[in-house]
Amino acid sequence: MKKLEIKTPSCESIIYCGDGALDKILPEVLTGRQLFTVTDSRVYKLYKSFIDEKLAPFGQVHVITAGERSKNYTCLMGILKAMLAAGVKRGGTVVALGGGVVGDIAGLAASLYMRGVHLVQIPTTLLSQVDSSVGGKTAIDLCGVKNIVGTFYQPETVIVDPVFLKTLPAREIRCGLGEIIKYGALNKDIYIKLIENQNSLKTIGFLKDITYDCIAHKADVVARDERESGIRKTLNLGHTTGHAFELYYRRKSHGEFVLIGMYYELYIAVKKGICPPEYAKSLKELIIKVIEVPAYEDAAEACRGAAYDKKNVKAQEISVIVPASAGEPEELRLPAAEYAALVGECARNMRLEKGE
Ligand SMILES: NC(=O)c1ccc[n+]([C@@H]2O[C@H](COP(=O)([O-])OP(=O)(O)OC[C@H]3O[C@@H](n4cnc5c(N)ncnc54)[C@H](O)[C@@H]3O)[C@@H](O)[C@H]2O)c1
Repeated sequence: MKKLEIKTPSCESIIYCGDGALDKILPEVLTGRQLFTVTDSRVYKLYKSFIDEKLAPFGQVHVITAGERSKNYTCLMGILKAMLAAGVKRGGTVVALGGGVVGDIAGLAASLYMRGVHLVQIPTTLLSQVDSSVGGKTAIDLCGVKNIVGTFYQPETVIVDPVFLKTLPAREIRCGLGEIIKYGALNKDIYIKLIENQNSLKTIGFLKDITYDCIAHKADVVARDERESGIRKTLNLGHTTGHAFELYYRRKSHGEFVLIGMYYELYIAVKKGICPPEYAKSLKELIIKVIEVPAYEDAAEACRGAAYDKKNVKAQEISVIVPASAGEPEELRLPAAEYAALVGECARNMRLEKGE
């Protein structure tokens, strides 16, 4: 088990990562605390005996419906009302046991209730282990806009234990790999590891190892820029187009759309002369090992919605993070119309390559 610390002006977050983290750290964290555990219906079913034995004796367990749709106002209010009814006090601790959805909404509830109670993240999906449980972003969606309501609220403790990966379906492994490949485009050492292990990306051994590297990269970035005014924006690589597709097409999950978004954004980066074609090709090859990238007929139309993404503060200018070379991401700002046209062009070229 390894340990990492994030020190920001507002708080300190300790991350424990690796085999045995749960067994070792959970008793230390729980001792003498009033807990309020938030989990989702699927995780509850899979890990009921663990929850009943290790968490339920210390406070209420609140179960939300599994899936992205739970990241809404009604569900948030449900958590807050249940916390009030359970008599959670200011010294109480919210435990977010689940994937990114549970982590985001339970984190938001923890930051709002009594103006903030303690928060412990126990991520159970690959995506939440490598990314969303670390860094203190919390959110719900509103009126179809993703993550538009939220706070920056660092968890006191994050316990990342690979034991949870054993029950993850292949699709969720794919989603996590989406964020991992994103880190590969941001960090040269992670990129090299990915290239060296490209035929064993989905093995638990590789995932355990790379999880720590991704968290370490994120921890370093968050410590330098907690509020995303500078370098933290780089963590959004793949997300501008990914979010636009996610809103428009919906059928796939967040991590899958990040991978697809990254593929399209690499096309833009090469077209604009920022990313060398060979480097882009190696990243695209990693992406297509994990997911089949659709050549969407109406890709340009889908991306017109990107102007409403909260990261594009100047509505008619789109911000895309692109890799300029290994470990060197850059922010590219381009007019919304040009961005949508390039996305459409990428899809058209893909259809031509497939002979459609
Ligand atoms: N806060 C951040 O910095 C940040 C970063 C990236 C993504 N996110 C958010 O994370 C969310 C996506 O997270 P996710 O991919 O973890 O989705 P998720 O939380 O919906 O989990 C995916 C599915 O896996 C199930 N599951 C969870 N753990 C399991 C396990 N161990 N075994 C079997 N099934 C399990 C869940 O019940 C769910 O059905 C999105 O809402 C995204 O916006 C947040």
